[in-house]
This record gives sequence, C-alpha cells and structure tokens, in this order.
Amino acid sequence: MKITPFSAGFGVEVTGVDLAGSLDDDTKARLRAAWAKHLVLVVRDQENLSPEDHVRFCELFGNLGKRSRPADDRHEGTDAPSEVMFVSNRKEDGKFIGSLPDGEMQFHIDQCYVERPARATCLYAIVVPDAGGDTIFGDLCRAYDALPDDLRGVVDDYDALNVFSYDSTSREQVGKISNARQFVQPMVVSHPVTGRKALYVNRLMTAEIVGMPGDAGRAIIDRLVAHEEQPEFLYTHKWRKGDLLIWDNLCTVHARTDFDPTKERHLRRFTVEGGPLVGE
Ligand code: OGA
Ligand code: MN
Repeated sequence: MKITPFSAGFGVEVTGVDLAGSLDDDTKARLRAAWAKHLVLVVRDQENLSPEDHVRFCELFGNLGKRSRPADDRHEGTDAPSEVMFVSNRKEDGKFIGSLPDGEMQFHIDQCYVERPARATCLYAIVVPDAGGDTIFGDLCRAYDALPDDLRGVVDDYDALNVFSYDSTSREQVGKISNARQFVQPMVVSHPVTGRKALYVNRLMTAEIVGMPGDAGRAIIDRLVAHEEQPEFLYTHKWRKGDLLIWDNLCTVHARTDFDPTKERHLRRFTVEGGPLVGE
C-alpha cells in the first residue's frame, strides 16, 4: 500500500490496497495514522466494493453512524445495510432514489446542526460524470492556524448556531425553511488524536454567533467563511469510478461543483459516528 500526500497541504492518495480483502494490522494502523494526520483519504481503484466491505472500512475509524435523515423509504429495495445513503441522481418511477441528487452545494460540515455530528463521512463512487460534480475539501486546521488575531479572539470565545434543512444546497434556501434542524456548536474544535484546533464554521449552515447582534455576527461569519475558502486551504477531488473517500467531518469542510444533470452520478455513503463537540 502506498500513501501519497497531495500538494494541497492535506489529504492523501492511497493506492495498492484492496479493501474487499482482509487487512493486516499494520495496514489498518497506517490507514488510521494517515487519516489522523492528513484528514482526507482518497483510496483509488476499489472496483466492486460491496456495501459490507464499505462498512468494514468505515469501522476502522469508529462505529458506523446512523442516518441523520428522517425515515425515508427511498433506500428500500437495495441490499445495503440500513445506515446507507445514496448521493445519487438516479431515478426510478420518476423519483430520485437517493439524496442530494443534483447541482452545486455550498461549503458545509455534515450534521453540524445536530448534537452529535458524524465524525467522518465516507463516499464511494459507483457512477460519476466525466466532468463536474467535483467535491472540494477545505482544511479547517490550517484555516484556524492562519486566522487573523481579531477573528481568532471571536471564535475562541463564542459559540454559533448551525441550521440546516435536508436537500438545501445554498444558504438562501436554508433561510426560507421554517422547520430546519439546528444546534449550537463551538466555533473551534480539537482533533481527537492530534489535538490540532479547527475552525468549526461553514457557509451553508452557520447562521448566527450566539450573543452577538445579527449584523455584527453575520459580518464575522462572512469573513470567517471567506477566509477558510481561500485556495491555499482547498483540495479539489475529481472523482473516478472506484474511488473511496473518507473525510474528517470535524476538521474539514466540503462543497460540490455543478454538473450536467443529464449525466448519471451515483455514490454510496456511510458515516462514522461522532460524539458531542467540546469547545475551547
Ligand atoms: C455529502 C456531500 C458531496 C458530493 O455526501 O455529504 O456533501 O460531492 N456530498 O456529492
Ligand atoms: Mn456533505
């Protein structure tokens, strides 16, 4: 197995491993260590990875996460475990069979609007378009380290309200939905293994800073998200069929670029369970 860091400053490509087979202890330890250090693992060439293999990979990093979405019958009829979600624009009988079917998605952190957000999200590419539908990741540890002093002072001291409604892909849509789920989280979190601090704020879901008047808080959130979305903190993943990605959902943010809705894009997704977040 070969682990090659990306030039983006975080994230690694993993080649020469077959996750359908059993892994020895040394390989498992190297995968865990690489994930703790680099935050995003891109495992290439996993053709025909079964749902069970996919779950076994996730369980290297923790317990399998429950779906955070409401009970939903769209995933019935597949042979995958019930925790599965499909990020897919496939249709059956005129209805999408999965979630997040099309379009761009703004930068976000999965489930930051619930008490216990997933520790990791793991996506497996079954069918991907030739162009577009890239997933862009941002390194929130380096973003925190590079914060100007005035912004660091705010995020160290305040919490923020995170709000989301399923299938909203832009902040404008979220704002229009009255029964969106929401939870107050710290604006800084620590990586559980390395202890590095990360800026826990994102464009799509971070709605207000608790205890700061609306406009002042909004202006700071706008500065924070502009800061963390600077190209020096980003890695753009161009999907290939057979790619298996796992990302740190505490210390990275992610977005999706647009793609041709007439082209099929079908990915299988599981999460790794997380705990309540502890701030500074
Ligand atoms: C997700 C997600 C992005 C993509 O599954 O949480 O944001 O590229 N997916 O489909
Ligand atoms: Mn997401």
